Amino acid sequence: MFKYNKLLFIVFVIFIFSCSNNNEKKYKIGFSQTGISDDWRKSMNQTMEILAGFHPEIELQILDSEDNIDNQIKDIEQLISEKVDVLIVSPIKSKPITPIVEKAFKSGIAVLIVDRKTDGENYTAYIGGDNYQVGVNAANYLASLSTTNKKVLEIKGLAGSSPALERSLGFNDVVNSTSTLDVIKTIEGNWESYSIKDSLRNFLDNEKNIDYIFAHNDRMALGAWEVVKEKKLQNRIQIIGVDGLNGPNGGIQLVKDQKLLATILYPTGGDEAIQLALKILNGERVAKNNILSTTVIDSRNADIMSKQFDKIYQQQQDIDYQQVKIKKQEQTYSTQSNILKVLLGLLITSLLLAAFSIYSVYNIKKKKRELELRNKKITIQRNQIKKIAEEVKISNEARVNFFTGLSHEFKTPITLILSSTESLNENKVIRDNKLLNEVGLIYNNSKRLLRLINQLLDFRKIEDRKFILKASKTNLFQFSNLIFKDFEREAQKRNINFSISTNNENLSIFLDRNLMDKVYFNLLSNAFKFTPNNGTISIDILDEVGSNFVKIHFKDSGIGIPKKEIDNVFQAFFQGSNNNKSSSGIGLHLSKEFVEMHKGTIEVISKHGTEFIVTLYKDNVHLNSDEIIYEPDIIDSEILSFNTEYEDDSFIGQQPINDDENYSVLIIEDNPDLVKYLKGKLSSEYSVHVSDGTDGIDKAIEIIPDIILCDISLPDKSGFEICEILKKDLRTSHIPTIILTALNNKESYIKGLESGADLFLTKPFSFAILAQSIKTLIYNREKLRYYFVNNVHNIDASSNFGFMEQEFVSELNKIIKNNMDNSKFSVESLASDLNISRIQLYRKMKAIIGVNVSDYIQNIRLEKAKVLLQETQLTISEIAYATGFSSPNYFSTSFKAKFKKSPKDFRDR
Ligand code: FRU
Repeated sequence: MFKYNKLLFIVFVIFIFSCSNNNEKKYKIGFSQTGISDDWRKSMNQTMEILAGFHPEIELQILDSEDNIDNQIKDIEQLISEKVDVLIVSPIKSKPITPIVEKAFKSGIAVLIVDRKTDGENYTAYIGGDNYQVGVNAANYLASLSTTNKKVLEIKGLAGSSPALERSLGFNDVVNSTSTLDVIKTIEGNWESYSIKDSLRNFLDNEKNIDYIFAHNDRMALGAWEVVKEKKLQNRIQIIGVDGLNGPNGGIQLVKDQKLLATILYPTGGDEAIQLALKILNGERVAKNNILSTTVIDSRNADIMSKQFDKIYQQQQDIDYQQVKIKKQEQTYSTQSNILKVLLGLLITSLLLAAFSIYSVYNIKKKKRELELRNKKITIQRNQIKKIAEEVKISNEARVNFFTGLSHEFKTPITLILSSTESLNENKVIRDNKLLNEVGLIYNNSKRLLRLINQLLDFRKIEDRKFILKASKTNLFQFSNLIFKDFEREAQKRNINFSISTNNENLSIFLDRNLMDKVYFNLLSNAFKFTPNNGTISIDILDEVGSNFVKIHFKDSGIGIPKKEIDNVFQAFFQGSNNNKSSSGIGLHLSKEFVEMHKGTIEVISKHGTEFIVTLYKDNVHLNSDEIIYEPDIIDSEILSFNTEYEDDSFIGQQPINDDENYSVLIIEDNPDLVKYLKGKLSSEYSVHVSDGTDGIDKAIEIIPDIILCDISLPDKSGFEICEILKKDLRTSHIPTIILTALNNKESYIKGLESGADLFLTKPFSFAILAQSIKTLIYNREKLRYYFVNNVHNIDASSNFGFMEQEFVSELNKIIKNNMDNSKFSVESLASDLNISRIQLYRKMKAIIGVNVSDYIQNIRLEKAKVLLQETQLTISEIAYATGFSSPNYFSTSFKAKFKKSPKDFRDR
């Protein structure tokens, strides 16, 4: 929207600017005037301005030189630099002004000379009155007056100006050819009356006999009349002037006033000069000399001339007035036209706005329709979702209720199993038949099941907000200590440094003992679950002096929680990525809920193990009165009954028999019950070794067992990883491995096989199948060994043995063959060449070939000797040394022992 408004505004502004007046001047005419002190010059300027006014395309600039030559040169310079299109000059004098006029002309400016001339021809055109004719007219007029001789005085204009020169020339040419005229005196003036008065006075003082005076202009003629009148000679001397201006002091008026006899009309040429300039600007050709005609005005025509001039003047005034009027009208027109344009602009803008509004309305309507449609769809979808959600809720509710009900149903049978198992424990028959182990397993696992079911039910209760806190005043240390004791035996069994401490044994706080017991149990069983044997677990109670809080720290040296997962540990069903143990994922969630029911907090830190910190109020101000109950102190109460699976060791089965003659089995499993069970079952037949997973690999390498049973979910490395490492290690690669797991899916199965495991059994497995599998695997290994022994020299890469074993035997044979004649080559050198220890070499050989290493080396030497005896002519001693025996005697004894014949007999055979 904002974009469109901006656009309209720009359109409007452009329109307004386009309304400006475009009466631009196209040409500039510069005029250098001699001066404007006299009326003739004023009239000249006026006529020029009037004519220029008719032509809006030209701008006329008139500079006044004040009759000073230097000024005039500067003025012309200025007009040249302003690059006028036409330069008009009326030179004060010819000579000094000629160079600057030439400069202008040569610079390409059209130059028009008016009235007075310059020297030479370097100008575009000249326009002015015919000065020579002026002189001629004056003389002819005087000559026409009478036939008697007349004495004439000539008053000349400014010396050096062309009119003065030409007027005198014309006058004198006629005078000289006319016998009745005689110029008896010439006075030099400068066109102004004051310039001649003194000279004339002086002359008339001495010479009064004079008839006419010819002055080169009317102003000097008037000056002469004034002197003549002064000398009272006005009736004797008559005067002729030049210019013939109309107006109060003009020549025509002087004629009418009979001050002058006549005046020769000398036109200013102002309008003609502008006309000529226009022609030049229009590119028309103009004549170089444009001479204006002249005429005599005397008493006979002065009146008519005056009237004509008045009329012309009047007409000019009218024209002037009209022009002013036209200009005003033009202005009005221009203003009105601009207003009209603005209005038009506004109209266009309004129309655009209207169009835009219509478009917007249409668009909004369209969008509205779309939105309504979308809204409708969303409403339908929302209703559908709502319906589905309700259905899901109902079905979920039904399912949860079903599971809750089922969980409740489970409780009774499990409790029954528990109590029956307890009775079986007491039963002598069972004890005598050494079935105590199995009974113990049933007991412990039933308790575990019961605990899980209780957790599930608690979770449901929390979800439904059905828990009501029942807090009673409880000595915190005694409470903690009781639970501590329940875990102590487990700690001893696993050599875990388990401790409890407090800085205030007397501190009593308000606890729901039942709920807090679950919190403790949960945090401690987690700690025990993830802490390896020989680790550390501690409970530290810190009464914060001066505050209303007590902090209970549960710290372990277990595997810890990955940093990015630490924020999620209290979420329901959360499983840590490094947690291979089976767990429900609700224990910590419940713990947090229970602590928060106490208005306390629980936080977790994981750095070199895990630490949970439970913070609780010391007093009871935070509890409602219905949340507080009275219970006797813990010391004299049996109220706590802990469901711990760690406490029960009463079912201890028979001790395993470790017999070196038996095949050895290594069980890598961290579930103590399962270990106990398997150990109990397998000890009668096998020598059983156990690892909880943390040292599985080390134990396998150390023992080199005949078979390995390995769990998948282990505290440190997973069963897959352990199996893969063992299968890649030359020392253990031959050992058959069975993976036991609860993960019953295709991926795990494939992963198990990829790791090199020989068998994959899913829990719950039948012991009979496991026992049979162990037997089969060991039998197969024996078969393989048999094969090895009998094909020991034929082992190559294409054989069907385990890759590692083939490699191993090939490498072994190669080393022995390379040292065939080396009598110092020993089992130690072979082991070091293979990069394993002597004992590992011994065990490996025993496992895959079943013979001891030195026998094996000896065998190869003797086999080689056999071949040499048969196929070469070498002596027996030579053969003995060639096959690495230190003496021929020792060779013969050994040969006979193996092949039942001496080497000599063998060859002679
Ligand atoms: C005006 C004037 C006229 C004369 C003309 C000659 O300045 O003196 O009176 O005719 O100049 O250039």
